[in-house]
Amino acid sequence: MELLIKMKKLCFSILFVFQISCFTSVYAEQFTQQSYAVPVQKPYIFAKNKPTKALVELGRILFFDKRVSGNNSMSCATCHRPDKFWSDGLKLGIGHNGVQLNRSTPTLINAAYNKKQFWDGRASSLEQQSTMPIESPQEMNQNLDELVIELKGIKGYVALFAETFQSKRITRANISRALAAFQRSLTSENTVFDRWYLGENDVMSKSAIRGFKIFEGKAECVECHSGFNFTDDEFHNIGLKSYAKSRDMGRYDITGNFRDKGAFKTPTLRNVVNTAPYMHDGSIQTIDQVIDFYNEGGIKNENIDEDMKKLNLTQNEKSDLIAFLKTLSGNVQVSIPVSFPK
Ligand code: HEC
Ligand code: HEC
Repeated sequence: MELLIKMKKLCFSILFVFQISCFTSVYAEQFTQQSYAVPVQKPYIFAKNKPTKALVELGRILFFDKRVSGNNSMSCATCHRPDKFWSDGLKLGIGHNGVQLNRSTPTLINAAYNKKQFWDGRASSLEQQSTMPIESPQEMNQNLDELVIELKGIKGYVALFAETFQSKRITRANISRALAAFQRSLTSENTVFDRWYLGENDVMSKSAIRGFKIFEGKAECVECHSGFNFTDDEFHNIGLKSYAKSRDMGRYDITGNFRDKGAFKTPTLRNVVNTAPYMHDGSIQTIDQVIDFYNEGGIKNENIDEDMKKLNLTQNEKSDLIAFLKTLSGNVQVSIPVSFPK
């Protein structure tokens, strides 16, 4: 299997040399080891939950409405902030009563494409995920049945749910459908990288193109951050410093499988330069430090992923890698509701 992959890589490098001289206009698409094309098909996985305009709109309002939390002080957007690229800019999330959570807040950009949600993948759909922070005592601390009763008492919501659902009803399931549909609309495309990949040759700097080659080649980031969403949707122990003393075993706590000890989900790298600090424990402050961390190959432990090794990157190669990561940023425009249903 490994030999096959190596042979594939070799073939691609031969192809690459050939193509660079012959067809520079389709340069990007041709030389890559795999496809990075953003799917034309939007991630509307759940046929039953078709994101109609009304559904996404209801989800948007619920997402920003602080009355969804137990003491009406916190909305989803308190932690997933549009101005912070749908993360929060903090080391670790701050929950109910200002108490620090034990994990950092991931961006919601492209969460639509995640095969599993959360750092440990404990939710498998956005529908399943979206009521979990509402109910969590550490986060929004709201009893869902009480939330249903509360929303039923707000005429504006009664009307919105009636317009949106055939059942016309305010239910836990309909709340989660709306929140999920809204989140599915937060997708990233048309970044500098996407445009280059589809053939706009001059949009990427030379440094960023070199960085992309390092990403796929010498640094082997692509072993885990693969495809258009720059994730393999798998879980890995990358040898963070916290592993030795942390009680957070990540995926292991869900599966009980030893190989999952200290393994966390490979996050997307879209908009990554905008969402510091990094890692599930918020332990790395800047993108430069992330590259330095990988360059050292992580801190050895009994379960560190075999793809973690010293990279020996030069200073220039590090800057090229960062120049490439910068091309993965784009804006996801959503208008923030100015008033809420009464
Ligand atoms: C108190 C801060 C906070 C609030 C409020 C909050 N979240 Fe989160 N969110 C987090 C943190 C922290 C995580 C990571 C937790 C984990 O992986 O265990 C997370 C993870 C997620 C994920 C998984 C993303 C991924 O890439 O795995 C989704 C989706 C999400 N939140 C949506 C929501 C929605 C919808 C709401 C409102 C109903 C919400 N969040 C409210 C902090 C918050
Ligand atoms: C063995 C698989 C693997 C390899 C190889 C790998 N990564 Fe990661 N990456 C991960 C996982 C898993 C995480 C999350 C780890 C955690 O929080 O415990 C992560 C996290 C990150 C983050 C933090 C993102 C965030 O939102 O917090 C960045 C940035 C990143 N990787 C970039 C890179 C770059 C650049 C390379 C190549 C130099 C690379 N990765 C190589 C698996 C990998």
